[in-house]
This record gives sequence, C-alpha cells and structure tokens, in this order.
Amino acid sequence: MTKNYPTVSEDYKKAVEKCKRKLRGFIAEKNCAPLMLRIAWHSAGTYDVKTKTGGPFGTMRLAAEQAHSANNGLDIAVRLLEPFKEQFPTISYADLYQLAGVVGVEVTGGPDIPFHPGRDDKAEPPQEGRLPDAKQGNDHLRQVFGAQMGLSDKDIVALSGGHTLGALDW
Ligand code: HEM
Repeated sequence: MTKNYPTVSEDYKKAVEKCKRKLRGFIAEKNCAPLMLRIAWHSAGTYDVKTKTGGPFGTMRLAAEQAHSANNGLDIAVRLLEPFKEQFPTISYADLYQLAGVVGVEVTGGPDIPFHPGRDDKAEPPQEGRLPDAKQGNDHLRQVFGAQMGLSDKDIVALSGGHTLGALDW
C-alpha cells in the first residue's frame, strides 16, 4: 500500500529535529518514556477508520479529553510537554505528542521510528470510549484494534509490546 504523507516546510522539519534532540535529553532525565508513549498511543488509538474521526490530532491538550477515564494521568504528560510547545510554537500539538512517543521508544533502547510530521490540531476531542478496556477480552480487542482502527491481530500483539516500557509512579 502506498502511503501519502503530508508535506511540511524545511523550517518545520528543522524545528522537529531540534525539538526531538531536546526531548531526548528531557525524557531520559525525567525517566518519563512510558508516559510519553502512552500519550502518543492514547491520542492515536481513538481513530475510527470508518468515520475517519478521532486519532492523533492534538486534542489531548483539551481538558475534556484528559478527563476521559482511560486517560487518567495524561494531564501530567500534557503539562510536561507544554514547554516544548512554547519553545517550538510552529510544531502542532498533534506532531509534538507523537514525536514524544517516538523519542520515548528510542531512549529506552527501541528501534528508531521514522517520524512523519504534518498532523493538524483539531478543535474537538473524539467521543469517549474508543480506547481498549483492560477488563474485556479478545473479542473486544479485535473490535477496537480491528473494526475501529483497521489494524490486524499481528498489530495488536506488536503494539501491546509497548507495555514492556513499564510504568512509573507519578
Ligand atoms: C491492548 C490494549 C491495551 C490495554 C487494554 C491497555 C491498558 C493499559 C492500562 C490499564 C494501563 C495502566 C494505566 C494506569 O496506570 O492508570 C496501561 C499503561 C500503559 N500502556 Fe497500555 N493498554 C493497551 C495497549 C497499549 C499500547 C498499544 C501501548 C503502546 C504502544 C500501550 C502503552 C502503555 C504504557 C507505556 C503504559 C504505562 C504508562 C505509564 O507508566 O505512565 N498500551 N495500559
């Protein structure tokens, strides 16, 4: 399948590279890679392939989405990333939250993930209830990852590997 990525200016690319370098130091020093991966995932994991709604479009910055029950604690991630938004105002929140997840994987010894910038910030959060519920079983996971997000069983297994980053007590 051919993928079409958005195009951004050279200045935007430079800002992303600079921000990425700063995030590396910050995330390693604060030991907050799991939290950064979780904000990236909880932003992306609301995507609905049929209606093309939800997804990683910076809406986690809004109190309404932080208040979704699955997003407990992500207000801390939003707060930690706010100084980066202030320093790099041209970078969208949407890109910043995904970039933080990419750097979180990288600084904990994971693979380098190619980062494609160009996500716009949306004004409205997705509806609540799109992220998987840990208390339900396989059928539910297939509903969320397969029917809603358009991913495969293999994707579920690979993505669940995100939990190997562990958790922190904040
Ligand atoms: C398969 C469906 C999934 C379920 C049911 C699930 C559920 C959970 C739950 C209940 C927690 C604990 C949250 C808390 O401490 O309040 C958690 C943490 C976490 N999840 Fe998931 N998750 C899923 C998929 C993923 C995926 C796909 C990723 C990333 C690729 C991910 C990354 C993480 C990380 C990094 C943490 C620790 C966050 C921290 O320490 O702050 N999870 N998950």
